[in-house]
Amino acid sequence: MFEEAQYFAPIAAQDDGSVVVELASSHPGFADPVYRARRNAIAGLAMHHRRGTPIPFAEYTEQEHEIWALVSKELAAKHARYATAEYLAGTARLGLPEARIPQLEEVSRLLEPLTGFRYLPAAGLVPLRDFYGVLADGYFHSTQYIRHHSVPFYTPEPDVIHEVIGHANALASDRYAALYRLAGAAARRVESVEALEFVSKVFWFTLEFGVMLEGAELKAYGAGILSSYGEIEEFRGMDIRPLDIQEMGTTHYDITKYQDVLFRADSLQHLEDVVGGFWGTCDDDSIARLLAVRA
Ligand SMILES: [Fe+2]
Repeated sequence: MFEEAQYFAPIAAQDDGSVVVELASSHPGFADPVYRARRNAIAGLAMHHRRGTPIPFAEYTEQEHEIWALVSKELAAKHARYATAEYLAGTARLGLPEARIPQLEEVSRLLEPLTGFRYLPAAGLVPLRDFYGVLADGYFHSTQYIRHHSVPFYTPEPDVIHEVIGHANALASDRYAALYRLAGAAARRVESVEALEFVSKVFWFTLEFGVMLEGAELKAYGAGILSSYGEIEEFRGMDIRPLDIQEMGTTHYDITKYQDVLFRADSLQHLEDVVGGFWGTCDDDSIARLLAVRA
C-alpha cells in the first residue's frame, strides 16, 4: 500500500507548461498511452489550481466511471461487515454517488456543510508538512485520477477511490473529522523533521490503517483498509497490537505490502483520548522523549 505524501509517481513540469506523470514500468497503466495522456492532463489540472478557486473539472471516460461503480458497490458490501458504525454513519450522511466518479468540487459541496472539510486537488506528492498542516484548516489534499481499468481492484498509488471512498466518508463524521484536524494542528506545531514524521506515522497507523473494537468484533476505520478490496478481508488476521503512541510513532512500515502490524483502539472514545490527546498536546520535546525511550 501507500502513504499519501510518499508513494506518488513523480511529476515533471515541461517548459511548455504541460505536465508529465512518470509512471513506473511496473504500473498497470505504464504501456497504455491513452491512460498516460489522461494522467498527465489530470495532474495538470491540480498543478494549475489555486486554493480558494473552484477545483477544475476532470473529464472521466465511461470506462472510468464503470470502475468507480464496480469498486464502490463491492466496497459498500464489505463496509457493511467490516467498517465501524461511525464510518458507516458518515457514509450515509455524505451520500456519495455510486454510479459515477464525483468531481472533487462536488465532494467538497457534500462535505463542507457536515464538518467544514473541503478537498484540494493534488497532482502527486504533497510535502508532508503541507499535506498534514492544512488538515488543521479543514482542507484535504486528494488525487483526481482513477486506477487503470485492467486491474479494478488494485492500485499501486492512492487514487480517487482511496481519497474519496476511504477518506471523505470518514471526514463526514464529526468525531473523525476532529481527529484529522488535530493531526493537522500537531503537524503545524512541531518543527523538527523527526517530530513531523512521528506525527505522520501515528496518522498512518490510525486514520489510514486503524482498527477498533466494537463489542467483541474488530472493525476498521482507516481509509487505507476501507478502500482496499483485498486488505479489508485480511485485517483481522494481522498482528493486532494495543494502541500505543510510542510504538506507532516508531514502527517501520512497508508501503508496498499489506499492512501486517495494526493497532487496535478499544473504542472511539479510547482513540480520541489516546491519539487525539497526543496530537492535541505533542511538541518537539515530548516527541523527542518518546523517540529517546525507543533508542
Ligand atoms: Fe490516504
